[in-house]
Amino acid sequence: MQNKGSYYLTTAIAYTSGKPHIGNNYEVVLADSIARYKRKEGYEVFFQTGTDEHGQKIEIKAQEAGVTPKEYVDRVAGEIRGLCDLLNISYDKFIRTTDASHERQVQKMFKRFYDQGDIYKGSYEGMYCTPCESFWTELQLVDGKCPDCGREVKPAKEEAYFFRMSKYTDRLIQYINEHPEFIQPVSRKNEMMNNFLLPGLQDLCLSRTSFRWGIPVDFDDRHVVYVWFDALTNYITGIGYDADGDSSEQYKKLWPADLHLVGKDIIRFHTIYWPIFLMALGEPLPKQIFGHPWLMMNGGKMSKSKGNVIYADDLVEFFGVDAVRYYVLHETPYENDGNVTWELIAEKTNADLANTLGNLVNRTVSMSNKYFGGIVENKDVRLSENDRAIDEDLKNTVTGAYGQCQAQMESLRVADALTEIFGIFKRCNKYIDETEPWVLGKEKDSDPAKGGRLATVLYNLVESILIGASLLEPFMPETSGKIASQLGAELREFDMLGRFGLYPNGNRVTDKPEILFARLDMKEVEKREAEIAEAQKAETAEKAGGQEENGEGQPVVDLEAKPEITYEDFAKLQFQVGEIIACEAVPKSKKLLCSQVKIGSQVKQIVSGIKAHYSPEEMVGKKVMVLVNLKPAVLAGVKSEGMLLCAEDQEGNLALMTPEKAMPAGAEIC
Ligand code: MSP
Repeated sequence: MQNKGSYYLTTAIAYTSGKPHIGNNYEVVLADSIARYKRKEGYEVFFQTGTDEHGQKIEIKAQEAGVTPKEYVDRVAGEIRGLCDLLNISYDKFIRTTDASHERQVQKMFKRFYDQGDIYKGSYEGMYCTPCESFWTELQLVDGKCPDCGREVKPAKEEAYFFRMSKYTDRLIQYINEHPEFIQPVSRKNEMMNNFLLPGLQDLCLSRTSFRWGIPVDFDDRHVVYVWFDALTNYITGIGYDADGDSSEQYKKLWPADLHLVGKDIIRFHTIYWPIFLMALGEPLPKQIFGHPWLMMNGGKMSKSKGNVIYADDLVEFFGVDAVRYYVLHETPYENDGNVTWELIAEKTNADLANTLGNLVNRTVSMSNKYFGGIVENKDVRLSENDRAIDEDLKNTVTGAYGQCQAQMESLRVADALTEIFGIFKRCNKYIDETEPWVLGKEKDSDPAKGGRLATVLYNLVESILIGASLLEPFMPETSGKIASQLGAELREFDMLGRFGLYPNGNRVTDKPEILFARLDMKEVEKREAEIAEAQKAETAEKAGGQEENGEGQPVVDLEAKPEITYEDFAKLQFQVGEIIACEAVPKSKKLLCSQVKIGSQVKQIVSGIKAHYSPEEMVGKKVMVLVNLKPAVLAGVKSEGMLLCAEDQEGNLALMTPEKAMPAGAEIC
């Protein structure tokens, strides 16, 4: 492949506050498939990922765990790196923000900003969200909560250093307008422009004094550097940037980055703060920032405390690394959030990997052995019109796939690229149906023409599968390698994929075909999922100190207290009695029921995660407590227009709230 020059791509660096879930890992798998793809296209790729290790949240976690923050982050960073390795992530550098070289450069950049007047000292009064490490004004809060994560914020006042964001706003707006490719997908660009840049930026608080676990400001060490400034600069410190002008050759070669891949929730930090810091440093801006969608569980956010969280190591142990890679890549298309459950992965594995791909490879290798002792030979027999048309169509699909895939990858539509590749395998299966090799096999010895045709059919299949496997390598590297070795050949370079017929005539496939993906029994899947859920629950209960009991031996539940609210806050919520008049399971969801709920003279459709606790039949006729004015949402593809209220104990058992005496549908709950 011709050398196309360097390509630098990065992922967000993961917080070391705890073990990342499969949603976080989706991002590194996505980046890895792009990195591997670009390498095969001839780019000299440098792929950086890593960990974001400072901040108050981590300081608190370490305290809770009874270890120093450094001991804590060392353990979690090791776990994160281990998951990357397990998922076969081909990173070139794993940066940690506690690396001495990174810390030194952050201090130098901070000082440089101060010296050049971009940073000034002031004091901050506002609402602080600890998990997001962000200050907010009252006006920015949404229903009194953090606009980013929806959690509680608390009032805080601090002396702090501020960065003059307003100084660079106009330049950034102009840059974004002149570079339409800078923020992708375009919808995210519009969001940034309209919600943040055009209304005007406030100066950003760039240091903290309320905790210690951060990089000290070296000329005023009561302050530690704001964790987002520390974290964002990893993209340049990791490749040898030096704030005194002595940057490495590697930095000169790789910067500006070709692609920063980040989740949709942190696109603001990457498309506003980061470019402005770079402008202040006098460095060019990254070429593209892509805000990918999220992987959800049953339409909701994964959360450890809610017990709906899936970890990559559990999945890999059961499904294998490539089945997990395939699922997350395929199910989280370009702009829309994807959904993940054990059941969905199992269904997809059975349909696409066991049936479409695995079965195809197995049948082809087995037939080559059965009919020709494993020798694959294109006999170039005279073809009927019909056979010629069938072969041409197969060859066109197979040789055209790289071009299609390339077009999708150009715009980072990785799920669509995978669909193009699987188009090859589907076409091959259809080819088997069309050519009926088992019929040709019966007559092959009595009719040499049939024997010749059968050999050609198998040659065409082997060749097509090899082209498909070569294209699949960036996404499912282990599987592609296994396919090539079963076919007794090497995976091809991308620039050879437009040609058909390069498989050496007379070559031999393995005589011991291996099942690539065994069909999964759904009962086994459920059993394993339940075992893991049980183990997770036990772990959470152990950490929470278990469920308490009161004096009479009755269990009680203690929750963390939320801040006091006013009557006005409460009065915004409209609760009414609803009567369930119909209820059904939401297709493809293990947890959700969809109820039609009569509230006064209206009927609302409400989706609830209660399937494990109530059957649709027993729901009908119940009078329940409904939060009526909740903003509608779509869960697992179904619209939900409110919320049924339940009590939940620490074991996760649910009980619907029902009026204790007869009440009409619609009665106000106040
Ligand atoms: N530390 C910051 C990033 C700093 S980058 C200079 C952070 N860390 S994180 O651990 O919370 O998230 C890491 C990445 O995972 C982010 O890009 C985030 O959007 C992504 N995801 C978090 N949950 C996700 C899903 N459920 N699905 C897909 N991506 C998810 O943010």
